[in-house]
Amino acid sequence: MEKELSLEFLRVVERAAIASARTMGLGDRHGSDQAAVQAMRSEMDTVGMDGTIVIGEGERDEAPMLYIGEKVGAALHDKNRKYPAVDIAVDPLEGTNLCATGEPNAIVVLAASNRGGLLHAPDLYMEKIIVGPACKGAVELDAPVKDNLKAIAKRLSRDVEDLVVIVLDRPRHEKLIADIRKAGARIRLISDGDLSAGITAAVSNTGIHAVMGTGGAPEGVLTAAALRCLNGQILGRLVVSRPEHIGRLAEMGVKDPRRIYDTQDLAPGDKIIFACTGVTGGNLLRGVRFFGDGTRTQSLVMTYDNRQVRFIDSVHLEKGSDVKVQFY
Ligand code: FBP
Repeated sequence: MEKELSLEFLRVVERAAIASARTMGLGDRHGSDQAAVQAMRSEMDTVGMDGTIVIGEGERDEAPMLYIGEKVGAALHDKNRKYPAVDIAVDPLEGTNLCATGEPNAIVVLAASNRGGLLHAPDLYMEKIIVGPACKGAVELDAPVKDNLKAIAKRLSRDVEDLVVIVLDRPRHEKLIADIRKAGARIRLISDGDLSAGITAAVSNTGIHAVMGTGGAPEGVLTAAALRCLNGQILGRLVVSRPEHIGRLAEMGVKDPRRIYDTQDLAPGDKIIFACTGVTGGNLLRGVRFFGDGTRTQSLVMTYDNRQVRFIDSVHLEKGSDVKVQFY
């Protein structure tokens, strides 16, 4: 599955990134999201798979496209061939506000797995702690913040004062931020985008050592898919804050709402493909650049099974034959 599909998924995320990047700075987050969704959805049907959306834009009555349970891929139109059955999780534009305001770190994300390989997470919040390979097994979701920071620092052979932790800038994180500051670590507050932050924390030399705090559960599953490929770790627990959430969880087969999920619980697949493309330039990926003769994108495509991590720089020459390509 991975060999066949990874470069096809690259096309999907590149197309969506280019479409949403055209809306950068227009101040219309819904328009930016729509551009990504439409491009992703139409490109998806050219992919040789029998796909099912398991994490998407919401339930069928909330989203016209990329809704949970929607069938996607070439199998929809071609009944003569047998295509691989694939579960798909997408965040067509992570950081809709970031794109709408032209701020860094908006990305397009897609993860795919063999059937059942991605948790069908409800659209709730999730408490998370995310670290890279060196710190795998060193942190606990319920440990005091200072203990987790000490454990991370020890694994990275440095002082707590040398760590940088990304936290979403939200009132709910007031205590977390105070605890991190008290422990002595440095903080990068972000306005959006804990999924791209989580991937960054799992890549060495990015200057980011952990992500802590509460963000979207669907983003948690997508982060787990990336971290399976990067050998990092995410620990997460769903935030059940209203009585109706309990019923929603039961419907989705979640028996213990207080369960702490590890990376492999969130993305258990033994075949995983993860693909993302930068929309606005950021810590991990460059954004989409439009130039006279075409467009340039940077993407990350990873496959779990055959352990490939590819940073892909693509030049899309769509404006005729008389083109000039720069070295970088
Ligand atoms: P969008 O993709 O909808 O723009 O949201 C991005 C995001 O910041 C995620 O990265 C994060 O997990 C979640 O929203 C946080 O939700 P909230 O903005 O409600 O705190």
